[in-house]
Amino acid sequence: MFFAAELLYNCVFCFLFSLEMTQANSVTQHFKSIVVKETHNSTIHCQYETASIPTLFWYIQDPNQAPQLILGEFTQNDNIPLRFRNRFSVSHDKKNENKTFQLNINAAVLSDSATYFCALSPTL
Ligand SMILES: *[C@@H]1O[C@H](CO)[C@@H](O)[C@H](O)[C@H]1NC(C)=O
Ligand SMILES: *[C@@H]1O[C@H](CO)[C@@H](O)[C@H](O)[C@H]1NC(C)=O
Repeated sequence: MFFAAELLYNCVFCFLFSLEMTQANSVTQHFKSIVVKETHNSTIHCQYETASIPTLFWYIQDPNQAPQLILGEFTQNDNIPLRFRNRFSVSHDKKNENKTFQLNINAAVLSDSATYFCALSPTL
């Protein structure tokens, strides 16, 4: 039997909070779609630009649901929702000229089919 999970993700959905946390800007959204076979590994990339040092997060949005936090850059494995624990991890490349924050998905399952968002907030 063959299953494929379709991951739709957004590279530049970034919330930029002002110091007062009163303003939130969202940058133009560019959705990309990838198809991952069940049990296969995959990586999705978020490219961001900011002058500050941000803390980054990945969110998932299932159809007709509100976005749900998967994990942030500093989330301990124990605090990742069970559905993703031990399968989802992140890596942050701050050195590349194109700064990227990756979500690594191991052993994809059909229920991983969803829209993924990357979000950042500057370190205050
Ligand atoms: C997926 O990644 C895990 C851990 O890095 C590795 O053990 C496994 O062989 C990989 N699976 C595939 C299908 O590449
Ligand atoms: C950075 O992104 C630009 C535009 O997408 C691309 O042309 C360039 O090769 C990238 N640089 C690196 C080091 O990945």
